Amino acid sequence: MGRVFVSRAIPGHAPELLAAAGHEVEQWPHDLPAPPDALAEALARADGAITMVVDRVDAAMLAGAPRLRILANMAVGYDNVDPEVAAAAGVWLTNTPGVLAETSADFAFALMLGLARQLGRSEADTRAGGWKTWTPTAFLGADVHGATLGIVGMGEIGEAMARRAAGFDMRVLYASRTRKPALEARHGYRWASFEELLAQSDFISIHTPLTAETRHMFGAPQFALMKREAMLINTSRGGVIDQDALVVALRAGELAGAALDVTDPEPLPLGHPLFRLPNVVITPHIASASLATRSRMAEMAAANVIAVLEGRDPYNPVNRPARARS
Ligand code: DGY
Repeated sequence: MGRVFVSRAIPGHAPELLAAAGHEVEQWPHDLPAPPDALAEALARADGAITMVVDRVDAAMLAGAPRLRILANMAVGYDNVDPEVAAAAGVWLTNTPGVLAETSADFAFALMLGLARQLGRSEADTRAGGWKTWTPTAFLGADVHGATLGIVGMGEIGEAMARRAAGFDMRVLYASRTRKPALEARHGYRWASFEELLAQSDFISIHTPLTAETRHMFGAPQFALMKREAMLINTSRGGVIDQDALVVALRAGELAGAALDVTDPEPLPLGHPLFRLPNVVITPHIASASLATRSRMAEMAAANVIAVLEGRDPYNPVNRPARARS
């Protein structure tokens, strides 16, 4: 029996699963996150917690939470907690791999299609009364079928994106730390250096985690290498792109557009210049947001908490405390 803090209102049955396993659930009931002080106080009372990507948990918070044994992030990404810092404090950190790849790739593909075919702009214009007649020159977009898609980061979401591209007869290039010869042989994807991918792709979709190496991996030198008609799609983390450089490059026409489901910071302040660019689509970090997938993510996080509080290893660890708290 333990006390589990759930840091937000979440879909699915995670609180019920925790209660059925005998745990007391304390849940932050709002859609907006608990402020850092409230989060620290809740963690200080908890044996386990289900946290979100925007809940930053640092060494001080962990030190102030002596009973805490697991932080189960309801996300595949975990840049809100340093796994080593958590391990050093004796706290497991887990994530939710596997369950959100297809849903996230659906959304990345939707962003690519929407950006290429001016879905957002044309829809807003229609609602505003701009549709006067069929116009041969209105909202001319770029074809997605037959184009070259460059995938940066060929993990499970990158692979799911590539599978969708096959249905659109796209040529797929990928740049990834690990080369995947089996995928190349089976599907004809081609591994490319990052620079080659930048120079050859009509669409570039980012699927790499945010690390010290990937922070700002898209900046002025990279935009200068891209085709002027190329479009960039980011559903990974905002920090992978140098946004100031992106604004400059878009204004200079070094690339044709960008669709961003993630920004730095989140939310992007409404006065940000990216909001004033017509060839930019911005959505509020919702790539994994289908009801079924978000419910599975929450329930997976609950399963990890239950395992640790029952003295077992979690199913999806991203760290391993040398001396886990008991
Ligand atoms: C993740 O899982 O890391 C996403 O960014 C949130 O769904």
